[in-house]
Amino acid sequence: MPLADWLDRRTGWRSLAARARADLSRPVPRHVNALFALGTVAGTFLAVQVATGVLLLFHYRASADAAHGSLEALLSEVPSGWFVRSLHAWGAHLFVATLLLHMARVFVYGGYKRPRELTWILGSVLLLLGLGFAFTGSVLPWDQRAYWATTVGTRMAEAAPLVGEELLRLVRGGEEVGEATLGRMFALHVAVLPLALLPVLGAHLWLVRRLGVSTLEDADVEERVGHARLCEGGEPFFPHHVLQEAFVANLALGLLFLLAILAPAGLGPRADPLETPPGVRPEWYFLPVYQLQKYMPRSLLGIEGNTLGFLASIPPVLLLLALPFLDRSPARAPSRRKGAMALGLLVLGLGGALGVLGYLSNRTVQAFGRTFVFDDRGFPERAAGPATEPR
Ligand code: HEM
Repeated sequence: MPLADWLDRRTGWRSLAARARADLSRPVPRHVNALFALGTVAGTFLAVQVATGVLLLFHYRASADAAHGSLEALLSEVPSGWFVRSLHAWGAHLFVATLLLHMARVFVYGGYKRPRELTWILGSVLLLLGLGFAFTGSVLPWDQRAYWATTVGTRMAEAAPLVGEELLRLVRGGEEVGEATLGRMFALHVAVLPLALLPVLGAHLWLVRRLGVSTLEDADVEERVGHARLCEGGEPFFPHHVLQEAFVANLALGLLFLLAILAPAGLGPRADPLETPPGVRPEWYFLPVYQLQKYMPRSLLGIEGNTLGFLASIPPVLLLLALPFLDRSPARAPSRRKGAMALGLLVLGLGGALGVLGYLSNRTVQAFGRTFVFDDRGFPERAAGPATEPR
């Protein structure tokens, strides 16, 4: 073909295509199952977030006066506006949930061990960026929930030792949550975080392709024998594995569409700085950290309780980043890593328990024909019957 030849002489695309074809036909390890599609599912949800986010930008106004009204107009006047917004809102929940599941899959199969330490660290940064997207995005509707959850969330910055007040002012753009806060969160959500995410995600995926998905053999066996030898007999990445991943990703998209249609994202009353609504709490993924703050003593060794709470949330992040260097044993198979599995279950149990306590805190729940009133720490204050209307 003359055009193809013409282009090849200028770009060398034929040799590039041949190299890509050889790379894509490399087999994947034999133990790979549907759980190994979670990374692709995360990428799929991210793509949905970008596409729906751009559509929302056509209508959204990033100012305290206009933000809420612009979303009201989107919901009532723009064809399918409610659907795009609902996809974006549910997509955020599913994206964070998939990141956590993908991370759990990698942990269970020992995929963070050498030579994939950097892949894990970049993944951890992606998780932090994902949480950053979720937090900054939750401010933008500028309804009561957004306003007061931001007030509570940003207050955590104040607890930072030495620079707490300055940090709070930096995050809020002033003493209180207001116009400047919304502007900052918007800039972070649509410009800073996407620009930060892109190179990290690119490097993460490049490393995944370069090193291949880990096998269940020990890390030192992989180093000795080579990844390619251990994958012999596995299915080719393309088209077999890609088709399986596409199937799982489509199921995930189906779930997202179902949720977006059956439970459309709501919009509360416009933000009112003078009226605190009852039961303000962060989204489910921040609940464990939020709840942990409440169990801190008033002061310890002269350090205030709030500051202790702030300091307590740093080690988990450092542990996450340093995991590949802390767990240096070469074993990958879960059955030979009983200690690591027990630790994983402990973290899951603690996080889950804190999340449940956070969900129950300051709530009145009716169950078994009785009314349970839960205090700030999530403990039942009293159990009295018969059931009455919830608060
Ligand atoms: C936008 C977010 C992310 C995307 C799109 C993504 C994508 C992927 C994909 C497609 C794979 C290969 C297949 C698989 O194992 O699922 C992978 C592998 C991997 N990911 Fe992620 N990932 C993300 C976030 C994370 C996070 C949060 C972590 C952990 C903290 C992580 C750690 C890893 C590791 C260590 C591997 C290699 C696993 C192995 O070889 O067994 N990733 N990622």
